[in-house]
Amino acid sequence: MKKDQWIMGIETSCDETAVAIIKNGREIVANVVASQIESHKRFGGVVPEIASRHHVEQITIVLEEALLQAGLPIQEVDAIAVTEGPGLVGALLIGVNAAKAIAFAHNLPLVPVHHIAGHIYANRLVTEMQFPLLALVVSGGHTELVFMKEHGYFEVIGETRDDAAGEAFDKVARTLGMPYPGGPHIDRLAHEGVPSIDLPRAWLEEGSYDFSFSGLKSAVINTVHNAEQRGEKIKPEDLAASFQESVIEVLVTKAKKAAIEYGVKQLLLAGGVAANKGLRAALSQAFSNYPEIELVVPPLSLCTDNAAMIAAAGSIMFEKGKRAELSLNANPGLEIEEYNH
Ligand code: KG4
Ligand code: ZN
Repeated sequence: MKKDQWIMGIETSCDETAVAIIKNGREIVANVVASQIESHKRFGGVVPEIASRHHVEQITIVLEEALLQAGLPIQEVDAIAVTEGPGLVGALLIGVNAAKAIAFAHNLPLVPVHHIAGHIYANRLVTEMQFPLLALVVSGGHTELVFMKEHGYFEVIGETRDDAAGEAFDKVARTLGMPYPGGPHIDRLAHEGVPSIDLPRAWLEEGSYDFSFSGLKSAVINTVHNAEQRGEKIKPEDLAASFQESVIEVLVTKAKKAAIEYGVKQLLLAGGVAANKGLRAALSQAFSNYPEIELVVPPLSLCTDNAAMIAAAGSIMFEKGKRAELSLNANPGLEIEEYNH
């Protein structure tokens, strides 16, 4: 009988200290996330120095909690998977050093994981991946359409030229006076309003799968300022609904066009903005007439940063023989295509 595979994942690229253990690549046996959102809220965004300090304080506690949840001695773990990048360098370093210390102390293989590969592989905790596939990655730092012809091979066919989708959500929320991170607040507000305000959609050149959200963000800010100057009142829920509709229309239209053009079997949704209820609904509507393309959407807890997704990507990369030396360093600007294996 084949021995079970146990992978520990460690994620500290931004403002979540997370450790998870998964069995045979797809079954979560421990998933601990310590969020720092409360500490960053009053600054309206993530403060890198504060993030690093919190990671240092939390990492050992979170590690112990994950082992306790799994009821597994560390010696049973087959490999330690850790986010090497992209992200905040000081934050990444805490996870990378924790992973190296465990790997060294217990003589375990170390598997480096690209953060976005992790977001994509969150979907493997939902269902088996079928190739070729397309992933729509929408997070705080990235907006990308990633084509995969096989495991561990990532090809970016479209990406944002300016703001990421999550970044646009956060900035618009801030303009409307809502706390960081603004995405969930806009999502909630949008459902109470009507998309009655005319806002732009950046389609870019014919055939391009790239995105651009900075013009939309500026249009929202201008709408608010113009109304203020004229002494008019804009309903924030209508503005939220109009903004969200614009983002979703572009994301869904491009994802659908690319999925058809590339003849994929699955469209995977990935990243923090994948938690958006409007986006989830619009995607299922758009793909309802295409039974040959399976739409896979992770549960909310696996959309935002977590370590189960890092372990899931790590499991495949471990099987494919990807390893890091104990000299592994954080790589804050790591590109996903550089990570191909
Ligand atoms: O993937 P993630 O947790 O961190 C990064 O790797 O960037 O994504 C965080 C982003 C934030 O911008 C947050 O506002 C956004 O995801 N987000 C949402 C929702 N939940 C989180 N955006 C829109 N609607 C949501 N429900
Ligand atoms: Zn993320």
